[in-house]
Amino acid sequence: MIYASVALFLSLLLFVIGLSVGLCIGNFKGSDALDTAPLIDGYIFFSYHKNKLYYYSSFSLISHKYNVISNSQFLHCEISNFINLWFSVIKFFHNSFSNNNECKFQFWVAYVHCKSQFKDAVQLTLRQIDVIKRLVAKYPKDLQFATKAKHIEEAWNNGKIASLIGVEGGHSIDSSLAVLRLYYELGVRYMTLTHMCNTPWADASVVDDGSVRNLTKFGQAVVLEMNRLGMLVDLAHVSHNVMRETLAVTKAPIIFSHSSVFSLCRNYRNVPDDVLHMVKKNDGIVMVNFYSKFVNCNSSRNATIQDVIDHINYIRNLIGANHVGIGSDYDGIESLPEGLEDVSKYPELFDRLYESDMTPPWTKEELEKLAGRNLIRVLKAVEEVSDSLKNSEQPRQDSIDAREIYETEVENHLQPGLCNTAKQ
Ligand SMILES: *[C@@H]1O[C@H](CO)[C@@H](O)[C@H](O)[C@H]1NC(C)=O
Ligand SMILES: *[C@@H]1O[C@H](CO)[C@@H](O)[C@H](O)[C@H]1NC(C)=O
Ligand SMILES: *[C@@H]1O[C@H](CO)[C@@H](O)[C@H](O)[C@H]1NC(C)=O
Repeated sequence: MIYASVALFLSLLLFVIGLSVGLCIGNFKGSDALDTAPLIDGYIFFSYHKNKLYYYSSFSLISHKYNVISNSQFLHCEISNFINLWFSVIKFFHNSFSNNNECKFQFWVAYVHCKSQFKDAVQLTLRQIDVIKRLVAKYPKDLQFATKAKHIEEAWNNGKIASLIGVEGGHSIDSSLAVLRLYYELGVRYMTLTHMCNTPWADASVVDDGSVRNLTKFGQAVVLEMNRLGMLVDLAHVSHNVMRETLAVTKAPIIFSHSSVFSLCRNYRNVPDDVLHMVKKNDGIVMVNFYSKFVNCNSSRNATIQDVIDHINYIRNLIGANHVGIGSDYDGIESLPEGLEDVSKYPELFDRLYESDMTPPWTKEELEKLAGRNLIRVLKAVEEVSDSLKNSEQPRQDSIDAREIYETEVENHLQPGLCNTAKQ
């Protein structure tokens, strides 16, 4: 009798466990993937008051409450009290958010305006790196400095924000591999090859389908030195030909930190299909930008969350879920799709992706990859390539041809030889 009761009890127990497991699976929502994987947004952007940064005091304005404010036109996510102006910008990879809509982020980006090219871009970039380092040092309970892929999940598991540094725009190295190497020493772990301006060695997307010089021989040396160092090569902002030429020479996977699909919206910031196929072969990722003008090119209607879903699904269909991520551009753009107004809308996006009519449908693992695991995989691969190259290769000695700098200065309406600073 006792055995029968025990058996009955055990089978009931198993039934209840089975039922709850079944229910859990049945109840999975797309946004649940955000509880089990870090969300790494390729691109969120903060601006600091020009003068405050100039006097190194913007830092003291930053409190560690990262409130999402929904009633602002421009700011989708802000550090309280900070003042938004044009000149110096720090951007970060969005990491995660909690129920009270705190922003958390991990890739801080030292960005300096294209106007500083050929002038004091290096000094201004160093200042940005300094601000990032002081920020991380000031909030040790929340932020943790990180230079490796494994640090990201470690910090995430500890409830901290892994803080990595990136540089956006190749103009920040002033055509010098020495500067590139020293940025690496300072902790910089990715660089976008251009911002909105051509450098003497790589064209930006502003050339549309044309070209000025594509990726030059020196540009190739920059890419290969980044491979050797273990720095992510970011192709957001470069021209389509530079995308192709970089993918042809790089020895490590690349990222697009905030770019969408060209065949859905013909804007040259977006990635064309032949390049998407190259990204698959390269094992890299395209982190989809939410900017209304990049996701919807039909001027007779407004962009919506569905447009962003279409771009993400397009990449998954064409090259697979291993090669897509999120690069919202929150705070960097003035127009966002209806339904994706700020960082509190990520769960909705993930829910709707999971519900979207795809064959095969999105799985939990794929959504986790979309959220952040793809980026972590790429960073790990970049580290492995670097480990092997550092054994066999010496630091590159390439230097740029003075004529290439001269010509680019003339194109930028500067007088070669004059020593100007952007501060002026
Ligand atoms: C850039 O690359 C494209 C495609 O290969 C080519 O048609 C174009 O002539 C190149 N431009 C320059 C300046 O080399
Ligand atoms: C643009 O949007 C309008 C309004 O929604 C629609 O009627 C039209 O078919 C769209 N055009 C294209 C080319 O998709
Ligand atoms: C597009 O959005 C703007 C600003 O939110 C709004 O004023 C306008 O009515 C919208 N247009 C359409 C066609 O929904």
